[in-house]
Amino acid sequence: MRVLIAGCGYVGRQLGAALAAHGHHVVGLRRSPAAAEALRAAGIEPAFGDVADRPSLDALPLPFDWVVNCVASGGGGPEDYRRTYLKGTRHLLDWLGASPPAKFIYTSSTGVYGQTDGADVDETSPTEPVSATAQTLVTTERVLLKTARERDFPAIVLRLAGIYGPGRGYWLRQFIAGEARIEGEGRRILNLVHRDDVVSAILTVFERGQAGEVYNVVDDAPVTQRGFFTWLATRLNRPLPPVVPEDRAAKPKRGLTNKRVSNRKLKVEVGYQFRYPTFREGFEPELEALGFARQA
Ligand SMILES: NC(=O)c1ccc[n+]([C@@H]2O[C@H](COP(=O)([O-])OP(=O)(O)OC[C@H]3O[C@@H](n4cnc5c(N)ncnc54)[C@H](OP(=O)(O)O)[C@@H]3O)[C@@H](O)[C@H]2O)c1
Repeated sequence: MRVLIAGCGYVGRQLGAALAAHGHHVVGLRRSPAAAEALRAAGIEPAFGDVADRPSLDALPLPFDWVVNCVASGGGGPEDYRRTYLKGTRHLLDWLGASPPAKFIYTSSTGVYGQTDGADVDETSPTEPVSATAQTLVTTERVLLKTARERDFPAIVLRLAGIYGPGRGYWLRQFIAGEARIEGEGRRILNLVHRDDVVSAILTVFERGQAGEVYNVVDDAPVTQRGFFTWLATRLNRPLPPVVPEDRAAKPKRGLTNKRVSNRKLKVEVGYQFRYPTFREGFEPELEALGFARQA
């Protein structure tokens, strides 16, 4: 297979390495030429361009059998989200129009679920987030799914939860640095997924996912903020982080959501089996890498 990974960063590079190891030809798109060496070392052919700059895509060597859009805004604001996700995805669709792949995956986010009441959500739940950035992800999904329906384009949307793994894990790092805080009663639910499961889920969906469908990619164990820190405090034999009052006034502005995201569809319809079904197994290798002895 010839595979294009647009946005070949944290997830993309690992995905590309896995595909290359299986004998596929992988091209990884970035803006930064400094990434070339790391991509080559992973068996990925580097390519440079900006998905928001349509002409820059014309230099890429069509056709591709599989394309995945893993481009990320990297913490940008609403305008950067529109440029990176919406404009970038429209450009990829336009560029691939004459030469469509067999599968196109877009890595969206569980941030599209705007629920704030701790509700269980699945792929049929409303996607009405209040933040402008999450609204852009919803619009991007709609553009793709409309194209899938109207032009028979083989697009699939994956809604990824908060990714952790080697070198990544916001809540773990906050805890270890002594900067973690439990907000209010700590009832806000964290929906998490290990990077290696994101990679394997993308590979599985390339092989068995249905065009025009949406799948959540989240582990089996959404956990409250308090539940997560309680596990970590026990595991590392440290005190729980201090409790601070919840900043209710800032909540809508921060676009904070609270929901429990289901992975049932990915498991039942695609047959995906998680390597790290919960954060408890998933964080072990990272804790070990940080010098904490593995638990017996
Ligand atoms: N991290 C999470 O918790 C999370 C949660 C939900 C969904 N997601 C989604 O998962 C996907 C993968 O995330 P990740 O953590 O692997 O992101 P990442 O490490 O930031 O990688 C994204 C890559 O995209 C490249 N890029 C950014 N803008 C680009 C542009 N305009 N044109 C071409 N390349 C561009 C960047 O490299 P250059 O700067 O060199 O271009 C970067 O290496 C993204 O779609 C992200 O939105 C992530």
